[in-house]
Amino acid sequence: MSAARDPQPPRPPLVDIDIRYKRYGVRPILDSLRLTLAPGEIVALLGPSGCGKSTLLRIAAGLDRDYAGTVAYNGEVQRGPSPLAGVIFQEPRLLPWLRVAENVCFPQRARGDALARARSLLDEVGLRAEDGALWPKHLSGGMAQRVAIARGLFTQPQLLLLDEPFSAVDAMTRMRLQDLLLAIVDAHRTAALVVTHDIDEALHLADRIVLLEPVGGARARPASRIIEVGGARPRQREDTARSAWRRILLEGLETHVQASQAKA
Ligand SMILES: Nc1ncnc2c1ncn2[C@@H]1O[C@H](COP(=O)(O)OP(=O)(O)OP(=O)(O)O)[C@@H](O)[C@H]1O
Ligand SMILES: [Mg+2]
Repeated sequence: MSAARDPQPPRPPLVDIDIRYKRYGVRPILDSLRLTLAPGEIVALLGPSGCGKSTLLRIAAGLDRDYAGTVAYNGEVQRGPSPLAGVIFQEPRLLPWLRVAENVCFPQRARGDALARARSLLDEVGLRAEDGALWPKHLSGGMAQRVAIARGLFTQPQLLLLDEPFSAVDAMTRMRLQDLLLAIVDAHRTAALVVTHDIDEALHLADRIVLLEPVGGARARPASRIIEVGGARPRQREDTARSAWRRILLEGLETHVQASQAKA
């Protein structure tokens, strides 16, 4: 038998999040949840407030290890924060005592190659080289979130984990940042898992949308439900086919908001 004809073993996904359960005390938060991402793929995570989206992201980043299950990157189970993941939070979380370029490099010192790389990333996210010398308090919200994206890219992650990254900026800035994220994902072939409350944002960004349902929710079915969004990126914002998806996602979200209000 020639080796050439042997089937290649399937490549493991970039990230394989397999959570048997996550509890806070006795309270179940996540249950029987499996989510995989391929290189370059964008997955949006939608779900009602409190259903565990940020918890899932923290587990994926290796920042929370108090759960039953595994997170594997390229087939290797992670035991701590993964160097392959870059995290971008809702608020930029810049260190006020460091200048912009130093924030991008942190914890490395902003000098030599690190500084050159920080400057190049600032350029890539639409900031000027001289902005690197500013203090965070002199940045607008949109600029600060661009810096946070540059910092998230500094370690050359294969996966960006974004927790409602654009919810604190105005609508125009938000659209620009969404398109920036798409450009970055294409340029770096980075995958992205994006938590958002905005259905249109999910429809614009994602190859796949994951609707996360609260444990013990309205219906007896697994804790997560995956809705596929087809079509190549970049998508047109005014695409009419989206209205059908929007309705399906709204219905999914409303079911759980009503269920949790009924229980309260
Ligand atoms: N450290 C903690 N200790 C106890 N309970 C927690 C802790 N962190 C989160 N929770 C609870 O776990 C549940 C899930 O929280 P999480 O922040 O993951 O929700 P979320 O889906 O991100 O919500 P939102 O959309 O409002 O950001 C919430 O009910 C929250 O109150
Ligand atoms: Mg959250």
